[in-house]
Amino acid sequence: MQKQFDVAVIGAGAAGMMCAAVAGQRGKKVVVIDHATKLAEKIRISGGGRCNFTNINAGPQNFLSQNPHFCKSALSRYTPQDFIGLMKRYRIGYHEKHKGQLFCDDSSEQIITMLKAECDLGNVSWRMPCSVANIGQSGDLFRIDSSAGEILANNVVIATGGLSIPKIGATDFAYRIARQFDLRMVEPQPGLVPLTFDSAAWQPFLPLAGIALPVEVATGDKKSRGEFKEDLLFTHRGLSGPAILQISSFWKSGTPLQLNLLPEVDIAKTLTEGKSSIKKNLGNVFAQWLPTRLAHGIIEANKLDPAARLADTPDRLLRDLGSAINRWAIQPNGSEGYRKAEVTLGGIDTKELSQQSMVSNRIAGLYFIGEAVDVTGWLGGYNFQWAWASATAAGLAI
Ligand code: FDA
Repeated sequence: MQKQFDVAVIGAGAAGMMCAAVAGQRGKKVVVIDHATKLAEKIRISGGGRCNFTNINAGPQNFLSQNPHFCKSALSRYTPQDFIGLMKRYRIGYHEKHKGQLFCDDSSEQIITMLKAECDLGNVSWRMPCSVANIGQSGDLFRIDSSAGEILANNVVIATGGLSIPKIGATDFAYRIARQFDLRMVEPQPGLVPLTFDSAAWQPFLPLAGIALPVEVATGDKKSRGEFKEDLLFTHRGLSGPAILQISSFWKSGTPLQLNLLPEVDIAKTLTEGKSSIKKNLGNVFAQWLPTRLAHGIIEANKLDPAARLADTPDRLLRDLGSAINRWAIQPNGSEGYRKAEVTLGGIDTKELSQQSMVSNRIAGLYFIGEAVDVTGWLGGYNFQWAWASATAAGLAI
């Protein structure tokens, strides 16, 4: 079995396979190593099995990083249109679902098969399942001590992703390698994750579990503010749905979220001004705008009776009700963690890497790509776009 390669890519996920294909097709001898038995498990489960593989509007504004400029170079050199072009060459059908998000018509398996075919065109070798115990250096070569024996490579690409969903093989491998080579890290934390609340404080909201509605949500100060208009979902432990997954990446522990449960209606103004002409009771007034269970829950939480007539309710109480709906400030006590997070925020500090090639500024031949790096996309196909773009940048540079 061949032992020496130009490139060893560790991690056969989205970024690793893309990088191997690009480098292999440029004539480099490439081996991909992964401890899993199956390729790219996260592509397989993504987008409900249909993989939201990119977002046609993806740009640097859709990514979080301590250095928001770092991702610009790679993203501008490998765009959503480039990946769409690849999909078209393989005749994989796709459609836009929501706000520029592109999904496969049939199955995310098609993308895995496509990336494998691209790797085959580059004569990529595979070591799977194969675990890596250690990476050392001798002269210009990296020495990889693996369960498939020693592998030598001039370049090593770390594409082992982040910590989310450990049950399908996520590990801290990239961070351990960063520590070993003394590279700085931005503290990892779960992103795109449901948020939880103190169980006693959440008690009154338990009957609302399962209710979904479009909302506006915001958090943070001027320097790092997140604002999204998306659907919110009440759960037994807290809040979820796209609005919450998006805002979770911006949320800092100990700070509140501001929620507008009815962005289209200024409740206090509508009720106080229209009160004399509206003959209904409070419950019926709100049921025209909000799911009934939620409307009654909010009215009762404000110590009002849904059966009370609007016309008899004092303006002061209606203004309080308006605030509770249009400006609900609520403080999560945490998140569902890596078990449920779609991504990991933080990772290898971009100060350590070249934005053109993803190579370490200090260790020649050592590259980090994909989710392992401190570049995290919003929900909506952005994280795969970063995987493709950062992988291509490295694959072209090696
Ligand atoms: P990725 O995690 O894909 O691959 C890492 C690889 O490294 C894996 O094959 C793993 O087995 C391997 N590995 C890990 N540790 C190792 C070790 N110690 N030794 C050897 N191998 C090791 N994004 C998006 O844009 N659109 C979407 O629809 C979704 N949907 C989605 C759903 C769910 C449930 C999750 C959890 C995530 C998403 N994402 C997403 C995020 C997206 O999946 C993620 O950002 C990319 O897969 C990251 O690609 P990477 O190649 O960097 O890591």
